[in-house]
Amino acid sequence: MAVLAGGGAPAVAQDASSGAVLPDGGIPVTSDLVHRVCGTCHRADEQRRMSRISYQRTTPEGWQQTIRRMVLLNDLQIEPADAREAVRYLATNHGLAPEEARLGAFEVERRNIDFYYEADPETQQTCNRCHSMGRVLNQRRTLEEWELLTAMHRGYYPLADVQGFLVGDWLGGPGPEVDDGDDGRTAVERAVAHLAEVFPLDSAEWASWSANMRTPRLEGAWALVGYERGQGPVYGEVVVEADPSAPDQFETRARYTYPARDVNVTRTGQALVYTGYQWRGRSTSPEHFSAREVLFVSRDRDEIAGRWFTGAYDERGIDVTLRRVGPEPLITGVYPPAVSAAAGEVTLRLFGANLPDELDAASIDLGAGLTVTGVGGQSSTAATLQVTVAPDARVGSRDLFIGRSALTEAVTVYDEIHRLEVTPATGLARVGGAAFPKQFERFEARAWHDGPDGESGTDDDLDLGMLPDVDWSVEEYAVTFDDDDVAFVGTLGEHGVFEPAVDGPNPERSGERNNVGDVWVVATLATGPDGSALDRPLRARAHLLVTVPLYIRRGESGQ
Ligand code: HEC
Ligand code: HEC
Repeated sequence: MAVLAGGGAPAVAQDASSGAVLPDGGIPVTSDLVHRVCGTCHRADEQRRMSRISYQRTTPEGWQQTIRRMVLLNDLQIEPADAREAVRYLATNHGLAPEEARLGAFEVERRNIDFYYEADPETQQTCNRCHSMGRVLNQRRTLEEWELLTAMHRGYYPLADVQGFLVGDWLGGPGPEVDDGDDGRTAVERAVAHLAEVFPLDSAEWASWSANMRTPRLEGAWALVGYERGQGPVYGEVVVEADPSAPDQFETRARYTYPARDVNVTRTGQALVYTGYQWRGRSTSPEHFSAREVLFVSRDRDEIAGRWFTGAYDERGIDVTLRRVGPEPLITGVYPPAVSAAAGEVTLRLFGANLPDELDAASIDLGAGLTVTGVGGQSSTAATLQVTVAPDARVGSRDLFIGRSALTEAVTVYDEIHRLEVTPATGLARVGGAAFPKQFERFEARAWHDGPDGESGTDDDLDLGMLPDVDWSVEEYAVTFDDDDVAFVGTLGEHGVFEPAVDGPNPERSGERNNVGDVWVVATLATGPDGSALDRPLRARAHLLVTVPLYIRRGESGQ
């Protein structure tokens, strides 16, 4: 059986009985299951190395994509349970070290960011025409495997050649400056040389991590601190229990609060930890979205950080950090994050874990000008503080102490809101709903004080946090004379959530154009935090581009 992948290189070793002859190096496959399900095509040698499989490493999602592609293109027949087990084995034993996984973490965390690959813009131009650059950054391979990968592309996806493999700047247009190179090599040859050098199979990081790797013990209570754009900070607790039959598998129960929205959420889930640190979970909630959980466990196992996001709309998600609860009280946040010096009496909500049973006002130190006069509604994870703000309290942030526990920059005293800011400054949404899913965009308005130097936009500016209630509107971003995008691109709802219009040609629009376009998203604040009208409303705006759907989505992630 000779299976050839485009480019002419043998994809798999061909002779089982005599023992395959495989390249030097390579990671032996010790899983009988992987030999059983993959070994019909990927032959093994005496050291139990397998063709192709032993010469690459990637994330759980990377292995999942490869196996899915084996099913779709190479007629692999595999039971779902065996596929899950193969991913689990390969992601752990042919995986990435924590340091290696950092660069492409945005891919697995499904962050919609504009990634710019500074190390080699030309490789980015060659490799991210059709899919995210993150898919590339999460691979480690031998030179030969990088070559076979591009041969596979040219065999299965002949368009790759015109879409950048043979020429440099195919699309013209703005993009990173590329030296077309007169070294006689094509763009894809230069990319392969670069990738083999910076993303090799053998690395010091992997040698060190794989020697040290073990199943992490994560059971116990964790304090949750999170942030969701447009919804503000999130505080709560997650209890993790280990599955007695599978120590890398965990069950979770979470409780958390969005103080800016006065919303309380409970959530339960399961997770699997790959490679000793890559948490992949799913959770559901009666009050909230079902989430995929992609988190990284720190080396000392004191912190688990990453993202919970909706599977359907990747762009909705919470940045999450879990901190292990120890014997000391842990203070995680104060809400609201800023108080006006003119406020007199204010109520602050305090969040944490393992808070002392009887917090008394005198034990809570908020620094000069802020005096805690009463504590109410106390539990081990939250309390309500009555605070008197002295009229002469100085502008600036304050640390909070309870005994020896501290939270730096817990709350900021200000005298005036100098400006608003809408983030992201440049938003992106994609029409959808007919043939492709819509991609929403979420905006939030933050308040700023100019800081001691009195100048806007300098390093000493004080961030006063998200403003939960501003007025949102959309205005035309005039590019042409009779621009009418505002009427077609979609609607901006409550809390700055933009829902794009449906995809496809619109007969109501001149030229039956698609519902794409450019608009300004505008936030207006008419009243101050105490409810009184401002002398002059504050306004800020962000640019929103509503564009066509993404035709190749990122691969599915999950377990
Ligand atoms: C029915 C035959 C068949 C089976 C079974 C099979 N593969 Fe493959 N595999 C191929 C062929 C053919 C290629 C080369 C063409 C390609 O890359 O699609 C390949 C290529 C690969 C590559 C290289 C892809 C790359 O990204 O460069 C990997 C890794 C791989 N297989 C993993 C697996 C794993 C893991 C299994 C078992 C879960 C498996 N294969 C089962 C036929 C098979
Ligand atoms: C012409 C479009 C195109 C270009 C250009 C392209 N890719 Fe791909 N790539 C694909 C498609 C299509 C797939 C398979 C899609 C899937 O399985 O989701 C793929 C899959 C992959 C995979 C996963 C392989 C596996 O085992 O499933 C890797 C890694 C990859 N590409 C890397 C690269 C690199 C490196 C470059 C630049 C040298 C590149 N791609 C350029 C279209 C492209």
